[in-house]
Order: sequence, then structure tokens, then C-alpha cells
Amino acid sequence: MKSFTLFTLASVASTVLASTTPTERISMAPKGFNSDSTVGAAYFMTNEASGNYLVSSSIGSDGKLTLYEAVYTGGNGTRALTPFDTDPLFSQGSVGVSQAGRFVTNVNAGSNTVSVHAIDIFNPAQLWPIGKPVSSGGDFPNSLVINKAGNRVCVVNAGAVNGVRGVACLMRGHHSFNYYFHSCYKFNWSHGLTPIPNSIRSLQLNQTTPVNGSASTPSQIIFSADEKQLIVSVKTGYLAIWDINADGSLSSTFNTVSGGAIPFSITPIPGQNALLVSDPGVGYDIFNLNGTKAKAATISVPVAGQVAICWSTYRPESGNFYLIDVETSIISEVDIAKSLNSTIQYPLGTDGPLDTVVATVGKNDFMYTLAAKATGLTVLSVGGPGKLTVLQRIDLVAPAKAAKLAINGTNVQGMTTFIGW
Ligand SMILES: *[C@@H]1O[C@H](CO)[C@@H](O)[C@H](O)[C@H]1NC(C)=O
Ligand SMILES: *[C@@H]1O[C@H](CO)[C@@H](O)[C@H](O)[C@H]1NC(C)=O
Ligand SMILES: *[C@@H]1O[C@H](CO)[C@@H](O)[C@H](O)[C@H]1NC(C)=O
Ligand SMILES: *[C@@H]1O[C@H](CO)[C@@H](O)[C@H](O)[C@H]1NC(C)=O
Ligand SMILES: *[C@@H]1O[C@H](CO)[C@@H](O)[C@H](O)[C@H]1NC(C)=O
Ligand SMILES: *[C@@H]1O[C@H](CO)[C@@H](O)[C@H](O)[C@H]1NC(C)=O
Ligand SMILES: *[C@@H]1O[C@H](CO)[C@@H](O)[C@H](O)[C@H]1NC(C)=O
Repeated sequence: MKSFTLFTLASVASTVLASTTPTERISMAPKGFNSDSTVGAAYFMTNEASGNYLVSSSIGSDGKLTLYEAVYTGGNGTRALTPFDTDPLFSQGSVGVSQAGRFVTNVNAGSNTVSVHAIDIFNPAQLWPIGKPVSSGGDFPNSLVINKAGNRVCVVNAGAVNGVRGVACLMRGHHSFNYYFHSCYKFNWSHGLTPIPNSIRSLQLNQTTPVNGSASTPSQIIFSADEKQLIVSVKTGYLAIWDINADGSLSSTFNTVSGGAIPFSITPIPGQNALLVSDPGVGYDIFNLNGTKAKAATISVPVAGQVAICWSTYRPESGNFYLIDVETSIISEVDIAKSLNSTIQYPLGTDGPLDTVVATVGKNDFMYTLAAKATGLTVLSVGGPGKLTVLQRIDLVAPAKAAKLAINGTNVQGMTTFIGW
């Protein structure tokens, strides 16, 4: 009897161990790492189905990254049933940072939740969870946006879609859709995310479950410059636009502005009521929101040799936009004020770059790229128009293995930075 009890206890213990919550934080910092000279941090997520981790790196005054640690988000990642070899959420904006609110927030597409972490006041690479993850208000959240004041977050959910094959984020000719919702939250440090009533809206598309590919999914959610509208790019060729009411709730219906082939990431064009939208079916689109006849107000600009331009970023100092192509591993620099043509292209070898941001460190600009196919991070120095150069490449495989962190270039997603203290 006694031995039976012991055996039973042992089985229970091992069962508990197997299903135990993932380790809360896993150090990846080199021995003797000192955060004193840190000027900021960069964050992406592992998006693993066994537990999604935010991986933070410290940014030095030279713009270079030092891996710091992985923090469990409290949720799981996921990817579609018929996935591509990278880009599991087929989105931009799955991880967001607020400079004003000093927090990082991310989607957990496998748990249908959104997590939020405070950024430590002495070490920006150090994250502290604020409350538990909250429901995303839908299925397969893949992009989120934070307002400028840092007290409001909205998320868009994507779901089941059939029959997608081919290049990452590129899909054509599939007409079986699902419902997508997004929802908005108020944020503060003591309570984290609190859902805003009457902010869940459907895109009214047909649904199949489980998720089966990226066709016809939303790609990114943003606020308009005046934060009076919420804009979602949808890969079937339109933007969906809701009005935001004074109480933060949303208009019951949305307007659509059609254009482009496969609208993907959205990068606002400062000072214009217009958006640059990356488009793996063409290159990129310019949506001019001043126009009423929507289609006439949008143009699509081919980018030579592009295969899958799905991400974009902007550099305020030069006014240049950068387009990121995961399949060709080329970043194209566009000066839309001077010429709509992408004139300068930078090959990045076999990086397979996804989410990318530009940050200013001191007086210099640096570009931080999630190099998914290389399972790494690439830092580029943005020396001025035409002068993008690789400054640093970080391998993630060996440090993750040493730290016992599950990571796979197929699953990683998101990239954002916080600069300052
Ligand atoms: C993550 O996935 C595991 C395995 O399916 C499951 O046991 C666990 O409950 C999930 N965790 C969350 C937070 O969704
Ligand atoms: C996913 O899409 C593929 C390709 O169209 C199809 O063969 C497969 O049956 C789909 N799976 C599900 C679960 O719908
Ligand atoms: C934080 O948010 C909660 C929930 O919305 C609210 O009850 C609380 O008053 C807020 N706290 C502060 C300091 O604003
Ligand atoms: C949704 O798609 C399924 C499968 O293609 C189809 O049977 C159904 O009629 C569609 N529903 C709507 C509302 O379009
Ligand atoms: C939109 O209208 C504003 C105000 O008239 C103007 O400043 C801006 O240049 C216009 N943008 C575009 C893209 O036409
Ligand atoms: C873009 O380049 C092509 C080929 O070099 C040229 O024919 C076209 O006029 C250019 N378009 C713009 C808007 O500069
Ligand atoms: C990464 O994920 C892919 C797709 O699930 C799988 O084929 C591959 O073996 C994984 N790589 C590692 C190192 O686990």
C-alpha cells in the first residue's frame, strides 16, 4: 500500500511537472553584463505554441544589441495549419511599445489573449508583467496598436482561412473567409488592460476553423494621426476604417477604402492624410485618405524583383521609407517625396527579414530587424539616404539552446524598441 502511494505520488508529480507553467524568466545576458550603459531595449517574441516569450535585448550607445532575457508572456503562440516557413501571424505590429506609457504589449495568438509588461525604470531590457493576459475579444490576435498618450490599446484578430500556399504572406484566389474582431482597452500601470465597452467589431467575413493560412486576414491595425479612427489593412485589397467615439467605443459599421493587391503593413506618411502600405502583390501602395472616391485615391507602385514585401518602416530624419521583403531578403529604400520608385535596394543575404523598426540612439539612426530565416537579429546603421549598412548580426539559436529557451525561426514575430530610461 505504501509503495503504491509513493508510486501514485511520483506519477502525479511528474504529470504536474510536465504541464507546469513555463519558467517566468530566462536569462540570456552574458556573464558580468552591466545595464548601466544601456540606452534602450529591443523586443520580439518567440511565439512558440508551448509558451510565448518576449525576448529583450539591451541597446548600447553604439546602437548594438546585447541579448538580455526571455520573459514568459502568460500565453501561447501559434501559426496557421498550412504555414509558410516564416511569418506565423502574417502581420506587422504583434508586439508594441509605448514610450509615454513605458510598457510593452503583445498578442498571444494561441491563447487569444493580449499581455502587457512594464519596462523597468533602471533597465529597459527588464520587463515586469502587469496583471494576467486579457482576452483579445476574438480568435488569433495578430496585430495591435497603442495610442500616443500610452493609455489605450486596440487589437485585431484574424482566424481560419483555407487553402493558402506559397510565399510568406502572399496569397491569391481564396474566397473562404472568417470573422475578425478587434477590441480596445484602457491601460494604466495598476490595472493593466481594461476592455472598453462596445469596442468589439466584426469584419463580417466568412469563418473556417481551425486557422488554415493567411489569405484574407487582417495585416495591421493603426490609429489615424488624430486618433479619431481605427484603420485595419485587409489582404483582400482594402482598409477597414471605424470611427472612434469620445468614450472609446467604435462606430457600429466600418468604411472601406479599396486599393492595392494584398495590403499588408501600414506606415503613415507624416503630415499627409495618407498611408504607405506594403503590398506583396505589387511592392507598395499609397492610400490617400483625403479622397472620397477611394479607389481613385490609391496608387500601387511596383518594386523591381519583389516577392514578399510585407513590412515597412519610416525614418523621420531623412523622410525615407524602408520596405522589407522576406523572400528576397532585400530592404528597399523609398523617398516618396522625390520619386515613387524604389531606387536603392540592400541585399541582406539569407536573413529572411520580417518586422523591422528604426530607432534614434543619440544622433544616429539604427534599424533593428527580425532575421527570421537566419533565426537571428540584424542591426543596420542608417547613415543617411543610400547608406544602410549591416552593423551587427546576432544568432539566436546558440544562446537560446544554452538558456533552454524554445525558439524557431519559423515562429518568431514582432520587433519594437524603447529608447531612454
Ligand atoms: C499553452 O498550451 C499548453 C499545451 O497545449 C496548454 O496546456 C496551456 O494551457 C496553454 N497555456 C495558455 C496560457 O494558453
Ligand atoms: C487547409 O488548406 C489546405 C489547402 O487548401 C487543404 O488541403 C486542407 O484541407 C485545409 N485544412 C483544413 C483543416 O481546412
Ligand atoms: C486604472 O484602471 C482601472 C480600471 O479601468 C481604474 O479602476 C483605476 O481607477 C485606474 N487607476 C488609475 C490610477 O487611473
Ligand atoms: C462560408 O463558407 C462556407 C464554406 O465555403 C459556405 O458553406 C458558407 O455558405 C459561407 N457562409 C457565408 C455566410 O458566406
Ligand atoms: C490631404 O489634405 C491636407 C489638407 O488639405 C493636405 O495638407 C495634404 O497634403 C493632403 N494629402 C494628400 C496625400 O493629398
Ligand atoms: C519608375 O521607374 C520606371 C522604370 O525605371 C519608369 O518607367 C517610371 O517612369 C518611374 N516612375 C516614377 C513614378 O518615377
Ligand atoms: C522549426 O519548426 C519547423 C516547422 O515546424 C520544423 O520543421 C523544424 O524542425 C523546427 N526546427 C527546430 C530547430 O526545432
